[in-house]
Amino acid sequence: MADLLRLALVGCGRQMQQNLFPFLQRIRGHQVVACVDPDLSLAADVQSLAGGATCASSVDDLDLETVDAAVLAVPPEPSYRLVRQLAESGIDCFVEKPAGPSTPALQDLEHVVRRSGRHVQVGFNFRYAETLQRLHELSEEIRATPCSVTVDFYSRHPSAPQWGVDTTLEAWIRHNGVHALDLARWFTPSPVVQLDAHAIGDADRFQVNLFLRHHDGSLSTLRMGNHVKRFLVGVTVQGMDGSRYSAPSLERVTLELSDGLPYGQELHATRNLDHGWGRSGFGPELQAFVDACAGQQSEPHTGGRAPVKGVPSISDALAASALCDRVMAELDAAATNGLGYLTDSVRASA
Ligand SMILES: NC(=O)c1ccc[n+]([C@@H]2O[C@H](COP(=O)([O-])OP(=O)(O)OC[C@H]3O[C@@H](n4cnc5c(N)ncnc54)[C@H](O)[C@@H]3O)[C@@H](O)[C@H]2O)c1
Repeated sequence: MADLLRLALVGCGRQMQQNLFPFLQRIRGHQVVACVDPDLSLAADVQSLAGGATCASSVDDLDLETVDAAVLAVPPEPSYRLVRQLAESGIDCFVEKPAGPSTPALQDLEHVVRRSGRHVQVGFNFRYAETLQRLHELSEEIRATPCSVTVDFYSRHPSAPQWGVDTTLEAWIRHNGVHALDLARWFTPSPVVQLDAHAIGDADRFQVNLFLRHHDGSLSTLRMGNHVKRFLVGVTVQGMDGSRYSAPSLERVTLELSDGLPYGQELHATRNLDHGWGRSGFGPELQAFVDACAGQQSEPHTGGRAPVKGVPSISDALAASALCDRVMAELDAAATNGLGYLTDSVRASA
């Protein structure tokens, strides 16, 4: 490998221009050598800021000998196809979630990636958000026994069908709800044995509530939707010792309930002077990717290596996709995409 990790940026749309590339510019140890998008004007936008990179309309036009790793922010179908192709060509990949169009595609990708021995990291950025990392650490002890976790995840987009998915609800679940499901898995890794899903609203604007029971007895409640005016993520962990740790937003962590301690004690607040580095997690996740690739590339290539510990992998994308399938099946079973009424309703009052 050259001294600097040689990166290809694949898919130069919104996510690359607004988040990934700006944070990559704040990370050392790499050099952008290619910007790829079928819309060459988008590739040229990023190239003009990258200095010395080439522009291409397809990965097939790149000389892969000049690339060590790729950062992909493309729709799910090309994510799957391109990560498959690049990993088989010996290239490490960072790929935005959901990383593939379906659970069978991700199963295939998991197999190919494992065989390739490449480092493939999936963009579940909230695992790297400073506040949620702190909440994860602070709640470690109470999460060692069955606990209850609530995840709030609200985002206005998509508000129309997108990324090749037919309905707004499914596009939202697979592209945004998948973050909440990944957070639920991260806070409670025990397998999900039961899942209930309910929605209110209409086909393009909805709230969805999920209830997950885990094998170890833990419970996760996910409240999410696109009915909001602004983006919000929050997580609360309640232990059986009577304590409740909460990150009501990506700004702070409080201890809301605990024996002998004042209510609402602030345990952590994000720094305001880091230009968003710690807030969304995009910066730390890309730093982790560049560091893992540098480590990987300096080792001899042997197939079948296990994914780097603690890094969201294709196996995580696969597990989250299987949960999305289950959510959609539950919502579909509840009639008209989960937005209809039950045929036999139960009276709320006598
Ligand atoms: N982690 C997050 O919080 C987050 C946020 C936003 C989007 N995303 C994900 O990022 C991905 C892209 O989203 P976006 O909003 O940037 O969409 P977008 O449509 O703005 O950009 C996607 C780009 O990929 C390009 N593309 C399509 N096929 C390609 C191919 N074969 N090779 C190269 N480029 C190709 C398109 O021309 C387009 O410019 C989606 O999977 C989305 O879920 C993640």
